[in-house]
Formats: sequence, structure tokens, C-alpha cells
Amino acid sequence: MHAEPTPLAASRSGPLKGRVRVPGDKSISHRALILGALAVGETRIGGLLEGEDVLNTAKAVQALGAEVERSGAGEWRVRGVGVGGFATPAQKLDFGNSGTGCRLMLGAVAGCPITATFDGDASLRRRPMRRVLDPLERIGARTLAATDGRLPLTVAGARDPIPIVFEPPVPSAQLKSAVLLAGLCAPGATVVIEAEATRDHTETMLRHFGADVRAEPHGTSGRRITLAGQPELEPRPIAVPADPSSAAFPLVAALIAPGADVILEGVMMNPLRAGLVATLREMGAAIDPIATRDEGGEQVADLRARTSPLQGVEVPASRAPAMIDEYPVLAVAAAFAEGTTVMRGLKELRVKESDRLAATAALLRANGVQAEIEGDDLIVHGMGRAVGGGFVATHMDHRIAMAALVMGLASEKPVRVDDASFIGTSFPGFVELMRGLGANLS
Ligand code: S3P
Repeated sequence: MHAEPTPLAASRSGPLKGRVRVPGDKSISHRALILGALAVGETRIGGLLEGEDVLNTAKAVQALGAEVERSGAGEWRVRGVGVGGFATPAQKLDFGNSGTGCRLMLGAVAGCPITATFDGDASLRRRPMRRVLDPLERIGARTLAATDGRLPLTVAGARDPIPIVFEPPVPSAQLKSAVLLAGLCAPGATVVIEAEATRDHTETMLRHFGADVRAEPHGTSGRRITLAGQPELEPRPIAVPADPSSAAFPLVAALIAPGADVILEGVMMNPLRAGLVATLREMGAAIDPIATRDEGGEQVADLRARTSPLQGVEVPASRAPAMIDEYPVLAVAAAFAEGTTVMRGLKELRVKESDRLAATAALLRANGVQAEIEGDDLIVHGMGRAVGGGFVATHMDHRIAMAALVMGLASEKPVRVDDASFIGTSFPGFVELMRGLGANLS
């Protein structure tokens, strides 16, 4: 499983230059394995993210009866069992660090008449599962053992799943997806009404596999999603585009390190994931799409990023769902901007792999940057530079580790992190890729 703690330091680097492709999108990779496991026949996946989070989902669907085989780098085949076809696993399902794997699979299991125990690492054991258990219990699943709605927990799936209408209390693609995956087994229409639209990869991929999924606008920025239950999912090839949430790290590094000119290939530009690029452009970033195309049903672009003078901006709460994983690295960009950046509505950051709101503020302060948390807002006072020299506690959080290292590449003194090993959950090869661009990591 997980490697030993690995401290790592990032120091001011020469000009970052080069053309790279970051690994496959994490959200799409989880869903490709899960829907492949629920289809009848063989799904071929190219460009799968081979990070620990996704590998744990692969093991979980295997334990539930799907056949999963790696046929080359990023090339995977899944032989599915059909909707409702999962079998009770012999052992508990261990999702390691991954909230997405765990919550999506809770949904996928909840519609099947089987019992399974879900567990994860110390970080995942602290994260809230009640939010997903509540609607799954309405569908007919039962939670047999769970302390305070946390892992480890055991779920007995529904014998006769009930289609529900669900309004998620928080904007969460994981929650929406869990309900849709459970709804696959229910007769009739399962409806999710989102007050704010979140990433739509589950809906898109379900359609790709032949399910009847409709999405209509709801209110000013929401969606009403209707899934017709008990479809037969047909296997379809999946090409996983490069993960915009991973591209965010070399992208911001290129903006803040002097003399940089970097091209990031094939980055997914789904509008529900593109909040960071929009915000950085508002700050004055030179980010240019040099080629755009369609890859596997998603818009992708090669993005050119160059060193840019940045200004502080106000980021509205309404943009949070489209860049929820990008705030730590945006906060680093804000530290190198001139003036104040206010990021509003970050409540959900408190329940990520760590309390990311607190961890992000602490990472900035440890490196001489003034930052405050006011309610659910993060305020960063940018000085156009950062002193650095800090030792950052990463709290088992891959994105805090990568954000801190990006900061060190442009700070006056090196930035150290206590543990870079969790980077492998989402971005295997991060250190090598960054070194290939000229980053000084040791
Ligand atoms: C994800 C949804 C988001 C995000 C996570 C991936 C997904 O979580 O933070 O990294 O693939 O559905 P929430 O649904 O909790 O916002």
C-alpha cells in the first residue's frame, strides 16, 4: 500500500521549460472502472490514472466480482457483471486515501442485495460519510455498523431499491454520483436536484454506456438530473484525458517561477472543472490554449503557460464547485500576486483529505505570507514574492504537498514538506515530471 513518509524540499529553480502530459483524470478514472464493472461485457480504458486512489477502486470492483486486467501502461480492461450484479466480497474494501472511490462505491453497492465493509486510511476515516448514507438509506440500503457516520462501516444493499428524488445539502459530485449509481438498480426515475452544478462525469459516462440520463437547468446555476433505472450498460471504450486538477501544479509553477514557458498537453477543459484557469486569467496569467480538440467525449486543450505578473482578485463562492480541488495551489498563486485575493465559500475544503482550508492558510504562513480565514473565506495578501523557508505539515493530503512544493520553486528560501508520499494517490510521477521541466526538488 502506502509508502513510508518521504520528506521533500523544493528550491528556487531556473526557468521551467518543456512540454509534458500529466496523468489521466482521477474522477474519470474511478468512474471508468466502476461503470466498466457494471456493464455487460468488456470495457477498454486508455490513459487510466494509475495512482493509489484509483488502484484501490480497481481492487474494490474486483473484490465485488468484476474482472480487471492491466494490459499496458494506462491500458486496462474491465469485464463487468451488469447492473445489480455485484457479489458480497470476501474481505473488506479498502479505499486508502480516496473519498471519491469510497463514496461512489458506497452508491454502487447500495443498490445490490449484498453486504460489504468499507474502510480507508486515517485521513479517510475522519471524513464524513453520513451525507452519502442518508440518501442511500432512503433508497433502501442499511448501515449496519458505523461510528458517527465514519469508516470503517458496513452496508447492506437494498433488496428492492426505491427510486428517490434527492436534493444534496452540499454541492458534491461524489454525493450526486453515489445516488445515481444506487439508482441504476431501482425501477423508475432517480432524480438529483443540484442547487449548484458539480462535475458531470458520472452523467456523461452513463450516457456513453447507453443509460438514459437527462440534465436540465435548475435555478440560476443548478441542474436537475433524471436517470431511468435498470438500464443495461453496454461497454464502450474510454480515453481518459489529462487531469486538470493535476495540471494545476505545473501550470501555477510556470506562472510564478521566472522565465518559464511550459506546454501542458491534452488537459481536460470541461467547464465544470475549469474554474482555476478562468481565475488565473482574471489575475493576469498568460495561459493560452494552443490546440483544442475532442477526446473521448471531453473537450481537451494543450495549454501554454508563461511567467506572468499576477494581481489579486475576488473569487466568488459560486465558482467553488468548478475548482474545489484547486484552492491550495490558487492560494500559492495568490501569494505571488500583487494585492489581496479573497476566495469565498470554501466550507467544503474543511472535509477534504485534510482540513484544507486550515492547511492552506498554515502553508502560506509558514512561508512568510499573510493569510487569514474569515468564516468560510480565505484571504491571501500577495506581495509579488514569498520568503519561503517553511516546513509544511501535509496532513496526509497530496494537494497540500504539491502546492507547498510549487511554492518552493519560486520562493527565496526552500520550502520543505513533511511527507510527499501521498502525492502518489493522484499524481504518480509528479517529482520526475516537475524535474523534467527544470524544477529543483530534492
Ligand atoms: C470528485 C468530487 C469532489 C472532488 C474530488 C473528486 C469526484 O469532491 O473534491 O477530488 O470525482 O466526484 P466532492 O464531491 O466531495 O466535492
